[in-house]
Amino acid sequence: MNNPFPLEKLQKIQTPFYYYDMGLLEQTLNVVKTESQKYGFVVHYAIKANANLRLLEAIRSFGFGVDCVSGYEVKKALESGFKPSGIVFAGVGKSDWEIELGIENDISCFNVESVPELEVINEIAASKNKTISVALRINPNVNAHTHHYITTGLEENKFGIYQWDLERVTNAIKEMKNIRLEGLHFHIGSQITDLDTFKDLCIRVNEIQDWFISQQLFPRIINVGGGLGIDYYQPDTNPIPDFAGYFKMFKTFLKVLPNQEVHFELGRSLVAQSGSLITKVLYIKEGVQTKFAIVDAGMTDLIRPALYQAYHKIENLSSVAPEEKYDVVGPICESSDCFGKALFLPKSARGDFFAIRSAGAYGEIMASQYNLRELPKAYYSDSI
Ligand code: LLP
Repeated sequence: MNNPFPLEKLQKIQTPFYYYDMGLLEQTLNVVKTESQKYGFVVHYAIKANANLRLLEAIRSFGFGVDCVSGYEVKKALESGFKPSGIVFAGVGKSDWEIELGIENDISCFNVESVPELEVINEIAASKNKTISVALRINPNVNAHTHHYITTGLEENKFGIYQWDLERVTNAIKEMKNIRLEGLHFHIGSQITDLDTFKDLCIRVNEIQDWFISQQLFPRIINVGGGLGIDYYQPDTNPIPDFAGYFKMFKTFLKVLPNQEVHFELGRSLVAQSGSLITKVLYIKEGVQTKFAIVDAGMTDLIRPALYQAYHKIENLSSVAPEEKYDVVGPICESSDCFGKALFLPKSARGDFFAIRSAGAYGEIMASQYNLRELPKAYYSDSI
């Protein structure tokens, strides 16, 4: 795929900003739709990855639902036109107002993580004379082999109901008049690039489902979460993740009961490659051994490198000169405000435009105003 940046147009815009390739987004969503529909799988977009309205419009137009993890996300999903019947609400610490909001708006399902949470939902539902569908988020103790900050499915993580606690939880539900057990929910982590990890998940889900069946409980929905990774190193060679292989894994290894629905909550894989952070070189500074390219974007605009030591490919859009070695750093008063160390880039100069690639997921949405900076703006390939 060709480098998708219209430099002349981008140069007219005040940096830093996010730039979204809407054509690539559409292509990606098309593949997700085609590959998931082959098996009748239902996809919810994990809105936490990026809640930019233009992206949400595109995602909604493909008929996907939304996975939310806060009342604010539920509000945003409703405001941007997603149907309540396509909204699921997860999260380890839902406040009472958030539960009320979900119940009042008749969202489709709460993914629940503890007995105390079930009790609160049951109480609020009773006060509104409603019966609420819940899926139990179960911690399957499967290692996602990804960064420890984004691993969620191990017993040492705070997420989900532990397997040794299942009987207590199902017994508690039997006593709750305003709760209906609809499904089982799993999510083991994010940026998973080895598809075999999902096979491990399927095997554990089958075992856990067998236990439910032995208790005469037949979940109507199996929600296997999200987590499919993307290629941060070669965004142009692999702009669209291997959705065919991913969904096939579940088709092959997950035991699905008659009339059971299989749900997915994909975030990063839908939007990451469509977004880049565009920034301008302010200064080239020669250190003792290191040459710094100081750019006008900072960790406030894209925190992933500082927070997870995440790699994002950086390109100089303005120069084709022979390469030199740079640390690319931002203007924020923190040493961790660094987008990449010892990178080989075409010889760079003040005013050059850089693209920090694969930033469409967990980029714009995680921006902050530290140092009283403005939040980054967004521009779109179909309207600049
Ligand atoms: N479902 C649940 C319950 C989740 O916790 C997450 C992500 C997803 C679905 C979507 O996962 P995805 O398909 O995007 O991998 N800020 C981090 C990622 C945090 C992911 C949190 N949970 C990053 O920038 O890498």
